[in-house]
Formats: sequence, structure tokens, C-alpha cells
Amino acid sequence: MKKAILAVSLFFLTGWLVVSLGLRETVALAAAPGAKAESIARGGQLYDTWWKVVPGAKEPKDNQPLWALQTTNKRKGSITWRCKECHGWDYAGKDGAYGGGSHKTGFAGVWNAAQKKSADELAAVLKGSANPQHNFSSVLRPEDIADLANFLKGGLVDVKKYVDYKSKKPIGGDVARGKTQYALCGACHGPDGKKLNFGSDKEPEYVGTIAKENPQEFTHKIRLGQPGSNPAMPAALVLGWDIKQVLDVLAYSQTLPEK
Ligand code: HEC
Ligand code: HEC
Repeated sequence: MKKAILAVSLFFLTGWLVVSLGLRETVALAAAPGAKAESIARGGQLYDTWWKVVPGAKEPKDNQPLWALQTTNKRKGSITWRCKECHGWDYAGKDGAYGGGSHKTGFAGVWNAAQKKSADELAAVLKGSANPQHNFSSVLRPEDIADLANFLKGGLVDVKKYVDYKSKKPIGGDVARGKTQYALCGACHGPDGKKLNFGSDKEPEYVGTIAKENPQEFTHKIRLGQPGSNPAMPAALVLGWDIKQVLDVLAYSQTLPEK
């Protein structure tokens, strides 16, 4: 009799242990994607303009040392320190939108390296493992480098699949659905996208301007957020939007006024 009770209680005890450990596992797994998405989005904003994201960072004045390897892009100063200036909004470098025009440097993209290398190896590249002139650890903290590596590993999309580079139109973007999605954007940017001017009085830049002129930049910023924006612009990735929703908003934003 006692044996039977023991067997029954052991049965329930193990059952409870399995269930509760199982639950803890699910909770832990459910928490991870959110934290991971935050890290990836922050990495994407660092890729855009890291000194607007790293606490206390100073905007560099001199050219990044690797800049001297090229002569085609005539820009100078802090812009030469932005990952996007050398590797592109589409992560494809010389094989992407920056393969020609005034942004041309001839530098490779990050897409291939991100597919082949681990997050640790990508972090090492940012600490100068392949080339000491590519060492960003004097300006980026270990946690910034970790977010950048997470972004490279988990946050890139193959932009060429989603944007037609000739017409600059999103591939498969739905204007009507984008209009519904845009309600969120309109809260800060206004229904016509003109409430915030990113340019100057003389040369205004609105949501419609960026959407039409630079769909690659638009896609990056909508997915990952705008560095240093106040109020903080949410990253679609953190909101849980998929790429289709981003392309729908791009399609609708291209109907908004440019001036
Ligand atoms: C001044 C230009 C410049 C800037 C700024 C720059 N890089 Fe690079 N990066 C290079 C060059 C040049 C290479 C070497 C590419 C090659 O092999 O042709 C490189 C290589 C890489 C690679 C490895 C590519 C491979 O194929 O192994 C990664 C990843 C990378 N950069 C990420 C970044 C990130 C992230 C940032 C921003 C923190 C950044 N880079 C900023 C110029 C730059
Ligand atoms: C909470 C407010 C807020 C929301 C919501 C928001 N943004 Fe922004 N956005 C900003 C701010 C602030 C800036 C930076 C303005 C500046 O630099 O002058 C910005 C910048 C931008 C830029 C310009 C980036 C550049 O520098 O060229 C674009 C494009 C943009 N937002 C589009 C959108 C779209 C599309 C949505 C909806 C998916 C959206 N925003 C949602 C606040 C917001």
C-alpha cells in the first residue's frame, strides 16, 4: 500500500517537474527573440551612425584610415566613419546601389561575410582581426560591437530581392495595405509625411523624399530605426513587422509629397 502511494506521488512529482521545467524553458525562449530583436535593431542604428547611438561618443573629424584606399567618393570627415558609407544601405557595397555614383568606393559589401562568418568572427573583424585599420574598438564598446555582430548575423535582408533598383519601386509592395500601416508613422510624421523635415528649409526632405529617392536607405531605417531620433522612431523589426509590411509602407510612402 505504502509502496503504491510512493509510486503515485513519485509519478506526480516527476510529472510536475517535467511540466514546470518545460514551462520555464518556453518562457525563456519566448523572452529571447525580443531581447535579440532589440540588439539587432540597435546594431542596425550603429551601422547607420554609431556616434548618435553610443553614449558619450564624439563625432569623428578626420577621415577613417581606410578611406585613403579609394578616391572616387569625395566626401570627408565623419561620414567616412559610417559603416553604411563604405558597405552600403543594401549591405552589398560595390555590388549594390553604391557600385556607381558619388558614393562609389569600390569596397566590398558585408552580405557575403555575414553569411559565412559567425557572430564572434564578425565581431573580430570590427576589432581589426583582418586589417588593423578596420579596428573600431577605440570608439565602440564591446556591447556595441556585439550588437553590430548580431545585426550582421541576424538583421540583414537581401535588398535586391525587395527593391527594383531601376524603377526604385518595392517589389510586391501594396499601397492600400501600406496606407493602413502608415497610420503609426503619421503620428510623428503627419498624414502627408511633412511634419518632420530631415533636410533644410531650402532643400526639404520628408518621408516621401527618402522613399522615392533612396528606397534602400528607407528600408534599412524603417526596419531598424533612426539613430538618435527624439521621440524615438520604433524599429519595424522590434514591432514584429515582416519585410512585406515594410515594403507596403514603402509603396505608400512613395505616393507622399517630396516637397
Ligand atoms: C572607411 C570605410 C569602411 C568603414 C567606415 C567600415 N568598413 Fe568594413 N570594411 C572596409 C574594407 C575596405 C573592408 C575589406 C573589404 C574587402 O575585403 O574588400 C571591410 C571589411 C568588413 C567586413 C568583412 C568583409 C569580408 O568579406 O570579410 C565586415 C563584416 C565589415 N567590414 C563590417 C563593417 C562595419 C559593421 C562597419 C561599421 C562599424 C564597417 N565595416 C565600417 C571598409 C570600411
Ligand atoms: C515616435 C515618432 C516616430 C514614429 C512613430 C516614426 N518616426 Fe520616422 N522619424 C522620427 C524622428 C524624430 C526622425 C528624425 C527626424 C530628424 O532627424 O530630423 C525620423 C526619421 C525618419 C526618416 C528619415 C531618416 C533620414 O534621416 O533620412 C524616415 C524616412 C522616417 N522617419 C520614416 C518613418 C516611417 C515610414 C515610419 C512608420 C513605419 C516612421 N518613420 C515612424 C520619428 C518617428
